[in-house]
Amino acid sequence: MTMPRESTLRERDVSRSGVSKTSPGRTSSGKAGLSKDDTAKGGAAAVSLNDVAVRFRTKDRDVTALRDVSLDVPMGEFVAIVGPSGCGKSTLLKLVAGLLKASAGDVLLHGERVDGPRPDIGYVFQRAALLEWRSARRNILLQAEMRRMPNDEARARADELIEMTGLGGFEDAYPHELSGGMQQRVALCRALLHQPPVLLMDEPFGALDALTREQMNMELNRIWRETGTTVLLVTHSISEAVYLANRVVVMSPRPGTITEIIDVGLPPERDYVETLARPEFREATTHIRELLGAASSED
Ligand SMILES: Nc1ncnc2c1ncn2[C@@H]1O[C@H](COP(=O)(O)OP(=O)(O)OP(=O)(O)O)[C@@H](O)[C@H]1O
Ligand SMILES: [Mg+2]
Repeated sequence: MTMPRESTLRERDVSRSGVSKTSPGRTSSGKAGLSKDDTAKGGAAAVSLNDVAVRFRTKDRDVTALRDVSLDVPMGEFVAIVGPSGCGKSTLLKLVAGLLKASAGDVLLHGERVDGPRPDIGYVFQRAALLEWRSARRNILLQAEMRRMPNDEARARADELIEMTGLGGFEDAYPHELSGGMQQRVALCRALLHQPPVLLMDEPFGALDALTREQMNMELNRIWRETGTTVLLVTHSISEAVYLANRVVVMSPRPGTITEIIDVGLPPERDYVETLARPEFREATTHIRELLGAASSED
C-alpha cells in the first residue's frame, strides 16, 4: 500500500505570499480548505466537518463542547489546531477518529461518513502510552497485531520507521530505558505503522523539554513530507503550530467555534532556525497570539 501523495495540492496550498487569513473558517467557495479547483475536480477532502456540534449531557451538567464547526482538510495537508483549554480540540480529533459521535452535522473521511472507530487513521496521544513489558519494536508492532497485518510486511515497515525516526540501536530497549522524546518517537512509529492516510496528534510533544520538542518538530516536518500523510495536530504551542502547519485553526473558548484559519504561507521544507526568522513566521505567530489573547480576555 502506498501513501497518497498530493504534491500538486500541497505545492498549491502553500503559497509563499505571506500570511493570509480566512474567517471564520471558510473560503470564497463556502468551505474552509477546499479551493475551487478541488471542487471542480470533485475530489473529496481527506477530512471534512460540516456544521458540527457536540454536546455532552451528564447528570450534573450540560456542556456544548463544539458549535458550528466546518472545516475541509485536503489530502496531504498539515493542519494545526490551537485554542484555550476546554475549547473542544480533543473532542474534534475524537470525532474524526470515530471515537465520538457529533450531536449535529457531519464528519467525513475521504468523503465517507464517520460513524464508528476508523481503522484508516493513526492517533498519537499526549503521553506515549507504551506497554512497559514490550520492547520499542514490539510496542510498534502492537499496531500490526491489532490489525492482523502480515508479519513480514509489518516488520519491514517497523524497521523503516525506526530508521526514519532515529531510533536505530534502541529497537530492543524497554520504555523505561528510553528518554521521553524516544518514547514519543515509538508512539509515532506505532501510529504510522499501517500507513494511515490521516494522522491525528493530540499535544504529542507537550511533556517534552524545549530542545527535544524542537528536534521532534523538525523530524515531524520531515516525516510528513516523506509520507505525504494528512495531519491534524492539536497543540498549545503557537510556534509549533506555525512551524509545522500549512494552516492553523484558531478556536474560541467553549463552546468551541473556529475563530479564524491562518494560511501560514511557508514552503513545506522548513529549516528550524531559518523558518523562525522568516517574516511569515513572525506575522502568523503574532496574529495568533493576538487572537488567543483576545479570546482569553473575553473569559
Ligand atoms: N466524555 C465527556 N463527557 C462530558 N464532558 C466532556 C467529555 N469530553 C469532554 N468534555 C467536555 O467538553 C469540553 C471540551 O473538552 P476537550 O477535551 O475537547 O477540550 P480541549 O480543547 O482538548 O482542552 P485541553 O486543551 O485542556 O486538552 C470540556 O468542557 C470538557 O469538560
Ligand atoms: Mg485536549
